[in-house]
Amino acid sequence: MNLTTSTNSQIFGKVKCPGDKSISQRALMIGALMNQEMTIDGFLHGEDPLSTMNALNQIGAGITVDESGLVHLCKKNYIFQNCDEPLNLGNSGTGLRLMLGLTCGVGLNLSFCGDESLSSRPMSRVINPLTEMGASIKSSSGKLPISILPTSLQKQFTYELPVASAQVKSSILLAALASGAGVEITEPIQTRDHTERMLKNFGANLEIATEGNKNIIQLAPSYHLNAKNYTVVGDISSAAFLIVAALISNSPGLEITNVGMNPSRTGLLQVLQNMGADIEARNQRLESGEPCADLIIKKSMLRGVELSGNIIPNIIDEIPIISIAAAFAEGETIIRDAEELRVKESDRLKAVSDGFTRLGVAHKNFEDGMSIIGSPNALLIEQPISIESHEDHRIAMSFLIAGLKCSKPITVKDCKNIFTSFPNFIELISSIGYKLEK
Ligand code: S3P
Repeated sequence: MNLTTSTNSQIFGKVKCPGDKSISQRALMIGALMNQEMTIDGFLHGEDPLSTMNALNQIGAGITVDESGLVHLCKKNYIFQNCDEPLNLGNSGTGLRLMLGLTCGVGLNLSFCGDESLSSRPMSRVINPLTEMGASIKSSSGKLPISILPTSLQKQFTYELPVASAQVKSSILLAALASGAGVEITEPIQTRDHTERMLKNFGANLEIATEGNKNIIQLAPSYHLNAKNYTVVGDISSAAFLIVAALISNSPGLEITNVGMNPSRTGLLQVLQNMGADIEARNQRLESGEPCADLIIKKSMLRGVELSGNIIPNIIDEIPIISIAAAFAEGETIIRDAEELRVKESDRLKAVSDGFTRLGVAHKNFEDGMSIIGSPNALLIEQPISIESHEDHRIAMSFLIAGLKCSKPITVKDCKNIFTSFPNFIELISSIGYKLEK
């Protein structure tokens, strides 16, 4: 599915932020493991959470969705069962890495597969610690296809993460939770803490201590958690596209309600505010242990910034759209320490650079980032341009937003992966003034 932009659009109005992808997936997995009745409201019905739901149902979770979109978890007389067909996690790194932890913890006999992008991504970052915990995992040199055999895991496990990764941290926590083990994980830099918050929300015995930049997360064996209905807050990583769209299109004002404001995810707002963006958070509240607010975005002039170090894990999924904001900001933006972007759904540093080259945005590439020379002026497009999405949802949406500042329509190729994280992107952006043609 190719999408073509329209010119002279201005983003304004009020929209509700779609549900958080990371939280939706965790609510399914932890919910299914608790094996009690529970309802999930605000769930993201995107392809990634749905592939996780299918995988859980394949091993007997019995999760259903009603006509209003509410997700229902039920109580069964068993927790999970083996399955002959491989569990297909599609495009979802979170789905695969967390499901590996969960199913090794339960002690199942299973195999896993995924799409071409997921099959090329590194999985040894979870295979290694899970194997150290006692799991038996076979892979193709640390990649899919992967199979696991039933084993019992160590009763107490200590691990220091070599990469700042919420997926690795969560995979180990789920393995420990599912096997009734205790675990102590040290993370070098704060990464998103949705798993920790959700476990606490359901009554797990989890403590977090801080030593300098490091977090030490201790989960005591938690045999019985108390399920209660859960509300998923909106995904700030999806709101990011709307916020930057409003900022670069000189919006008279955009309101995005229900945006998740977990401090381990709000680096985007800090970065954009440092660039000069006028963003106000109203009606701050807590939903199922996660902070949430309504954001008001007003017309602002952006300027370049330097991004490196501890903020990077916090903005890891937003760097492509921040790069678009930087292309239309006054001055230079420098991004460093972001080599993790090379192993996301695509090599996102290369994908952004390729798109910038097509659009004529001046930039320099580094192994761990890039520098971008921005200009607030619209880009003059002489002839029809098409940009590769590299079949990556965040690259596709980033360049569609860049189209707001192009003198002629541009086409972004292969946009179907937008449905993995933002299934109503086309309708929602059209409702606030920006038409995209299929
Ligand atoms: C995620 C964590 C991040 C992020 C990904 C979702 C999660 O990955 O990029 O989109 O749900 O835990 P890493 O933990 O590998 O950095």
